[in-house]
Amino acid sequence: NSVEGNICLVDELKNIFEVAITSAYPDLKDPPVVITLSGNNPKFGDYQCNSAMAISQMLKANNVKTNPREVANNILNKTPTSPFIERIEVAGAGFLNIYINKMIAEHILNCILRFGVKPPPVKKEKVVVDFSAPNIAKEMHVGHLRSTIIGESICRVLEFLGHDVLRINHLGDWGTQFGMLIAHLQDQFPDYKTHSPPISDLQAFYKESKKRFDTDEEFKKRAYACVVALQAGQPDYIAAWKLICEVSRQEFQKIYDRLDISIIDRGESFYNERMHVVVKQLKDGGFLENDEGRLIMWGDPDKHDSIPLTVVKSDGGYTYDTSDMATIKQRVEEEKADRFVYVTDAGQATHFVVIEACARRAGILKGDQRMEHVGFGVVLGEDKKKFKTRSGDTIKLIKLLDEGLKRALDKLVEKGRDKVLTPEELKRAQEAIAYGCIKYADLSHNRVNDYVFSFDKMLDDKGNTAVYLLYALTRIRSIARTAQISEEQLQAEVEKSGFKFDHEAEWKLGKVLLRFPEIILKVSSDLYLHSLCEYLYEISSAFTEFYDKCYCIEKDKEGKIVKIIYERLMLCEITARVMEKCLFLLGIKTVSKM
Ligand code: ARG
Repeated sequence: NSVEGNICLVDELKNIFEVAITSAYPDLKDPPVVITLSGNNPKFGDYQCNSAMAISQMLKANNVKTNPREVANNILNKTPTSPFIERIEVAGAGFLNIYINKMIAEHILNCILRFGVKPPPVKKEKVVVDFSAPNIAKEMHVGHLRSTIIGESICRVLEFLGHDVLRINHLGDWGTQFGMLIAHLQDQFPDYKTHSPPISDLQAFYKESKKRFDTDEEFKKRAYACVVALQAGQPDYIAAWKLICEVSRQEFQKIYDRLDISIIDRGESFYNERMHVVVKQLKDGGFLENDEGRLIMWGDPDKHDSIPLTVVKSDGGYTYDTSDMATIKQRVEEEKADRFVYVTDAGQATHFVVIEACARRAGILKGDQRMEHVGFGVVLGEDKKKFKTRSGDTIKLIKLLDEGLKRALDKLVEKGRDKVLTPEELKRAQEAIAYGCIKYADLSHNRVNDYVFSFDKMLDDKGNTAVYLLYALTRIRSIARTAQISEEQLQAEVEKSGFKFDHEAEWKLGKVLLRFPEIILKVSSDLYLHSLCEYLYEISSAFTEFYDKCYCIEKDKEGKIVKIIYERLMLCEITARVMEKCLFLLGIKTVSKM
């Protein structure tokens, strides 16, 4: 038996029906191959092929007299035999109800027991994921938090599939604001070259220097001189700039450590020299137009319907646009990537559309190289207004994480868990809940929408939340413990007889678990992580139904175990493994006890 455990069933079915449909109707151009889940009633099969209606319409348009049922029968007659399909029935107006071969399903699930949860095979690509990207000396705000959480999860999904992923932190570490920061640094900490300045609050430092910049003409002149010296690469100024960046970086790193984020710092300054090169290329290629002193570029020179890039400002300076043109060139030519993912708020959508159009026009981006903007909505407070503190200040991310920790602990104490768990277990559970909830609340909403940040909602253990799922998982994990079956014992049973379906509720749960490869492929292509969250919730609901209906262990009146049904413990194990994998891909840590 050559079928591995990572097969995408729905794709297999699509292939089979594509063959059937084209051989039944060879003259039809692009007939639709529609395969869907059959829904809850087992009499409709496990999957359905609904192509017959559309094909019948197409045939009628070609003056062929037919009806969907006849078409469905013709497709059925041409369907090749497949190890995946037990039988197919024509039903109703012309549906093809597909019954999956349970033996194949068992084989796939046994592969999960033997080898773990494996990714479906895909063509390997090099992918650059540009995410998080806060700005030096400025606040890392909730928008950056969203980018960080979504970006990390995208990387995990792509890496799981075996892609070569480059995780880039495109820090805002370059620009004219550094002039005033350096000038202020020289005044405040004259010996900064020998003694690392104790700037604890870089935002306050930024505000102070900005205030001086706006009110003090003398200071403003010096700030400009500092920018010139910095851009000329004068060592003292570079050193000061590095110092300031380092202070910010350490702050950002605290957040990344807590949230378990890995990312490589490569800020805008990295492209400093490369900006000259790309500007020259665009000039030489005749792509730039003079617009009242500034040099602009249109994505489409004939249709000025979008906004152009500003490649060179009238004072000769470069912009965010220039840096992103240099960035895409670097990623294509030096990184040799196939796919370029940018995770930022939806407000930057147009920016990336125009960057892509210009990069294609200039021949920097070619053929099937894909540039994708993963946009997301705004984080709102419970009052549905922009997320702020009561006093109207922006919320510090570290404070937000701290509050999450506090609330998670309150929740655990409320349930009396502090009396059951060891201090280490309690701490692990607290962190898993706090950070897991914040991440899951973000990822479980369709990212393009704004979402309301509510600790009460995200810590509710009854809804579709991380706490609910983490509890569900520990409960599944505790079933084998109650049965006093060790992993080795279970594994020995797997080798001996393997998993087999018995009850209808097992089959229902099994079918959900079999969809894992399909979900992963979908997420890796559209980069919408809420489908993975919905899937997790679906698993846990199917599991609940199974567990209500099927005993894994039978006990007598005294509570003594009299029978263990190993196949069901195996199904628990498979469920736990798939859930753990999904949670890992979402960046959520699991715990064995909570
Ligand atoms: N630093 C930018 C911001 O805070 C995000 C940068 C995104 N990446 C990029 N290549 N433009 O909005």
